[in-house]
Order: sequence, then C-alpha cells, then structure tokens
Amino acid sequence: MSILSVRLIGDPVLRTVALPVTDFGPELAKLIDDMNQTMHNVKGVGLAAPQIGVSKRIFTYAIEGHEGHIINPVLESSDFAPSEPEGCLSVPGLGFSIERPRQAVVRGVDVNGDPLVIEASGLLAKVFQHEYDHLEGKLYVDHLRGEDKKTAMRAIRAASYQDVTAQTIATRIGSVGSAFGGRNNQ
Ligand code: NI
Repeated sequence: MSILSVRLIGDPVLRTVALPVTDFGPELAKLIDDMNQTMHNVKGVGLAAPQIGVSKRIFTYAIEGHEGHIINPVLESSDFAPSEPEGCLSVPGLGFSIERPRQAVVRGVDVNGDPLVIEASGLLAKVFQHEYDHLEGKLYVDHLRGEDKKTAMRAIRAASYQDVTAQTIATRIGSVGSAFGGRNNQ
C-alpha cells in the first residue's frame, strides 16, 4: 500500500466530473487500499479518488465505526438539512457550516463489482454527500453563500496553495486539523 498526496483546491482534477469505473481487478483493489491508507494517514473521514488525482467515481469513508468504499455511487438525500461544520482535505485549514440533508441512501458497487446499498444518517450521510460532490467536480466551499463565501474565497486566495512551500505546509495543517468532521475542525 502507498500513501498518496492529497490534491488541493486549484488542481483541475478537483473540478473534473469523474468517470465511472469499468475495470474491476487487482489495480482497482490496490487503488482502494491506497485510498484507505491515505485517508487514515491524514485522519480524514472520507476521501474521493479525484483528491488523490484519479478521476474515477470512487470514494472511501471511515466515520463513527462505519468504514468502507463505494464505486460508481448514486446518491439520494432526504430529510431536513441542518447547518453543521465541515472541512475538506483539499481545502486545508478551513471549516464552515454547510446545510446538508440528514439522511442519504447511496447505491453503488464494491471492489468486486457486487451491489451495495447503504442507508446513512447523521455524519455518515454528510460524508457521503461531501464525497459524492467531489466526484462531480464540486467542493464544499461551493455551497457557501454571503459572508462565509467571501471569507472562504479570501482565505483560499491568501493561502496560495499552488506554491510548493505553501502546499507542504497546507498538507501538514490538513493532516492535523482540517479533515472533514475532524475533532479540530471547529
Ligand atoms: Ni473533501
């Protein structure tokens, strides 16, 4: 297994709609192992393949005892949408409250191509929605409005993540504090 580097906002792969997985085999299994190891290494609760530079419809998750991966997910969300804090490994050091439906059902397949249906509520439902957004080329900051949006855009510009030195620092910050739903996220 390998720990892969997490792509940061500004990288075009994060703005690209990811392609469905069609090849199920050892390479896919290795990719998912690497994603799991990377997610745990940076103390993330979810990781989408585009975040490690692979534009495929896959995400991994590990939150509140729920852990796994989903390939080619289809998501249905329902219920009211409380506003709760979120962060993202690809937008390190920031956290903002986002409204997301509290319930979600995700359908997809696992690494063997076998069908999966997972009904989620609470944080798991939020992780599914957040990671699904990544596969559509969206970031959680896209949901911000008004003053929060201005604050986020200012912070992202000031951070200049494209700079190599800043990227190293940002990765370090990301690994200690801004994992989505992480304890230090407030
Ligand atoms: Ni994210």
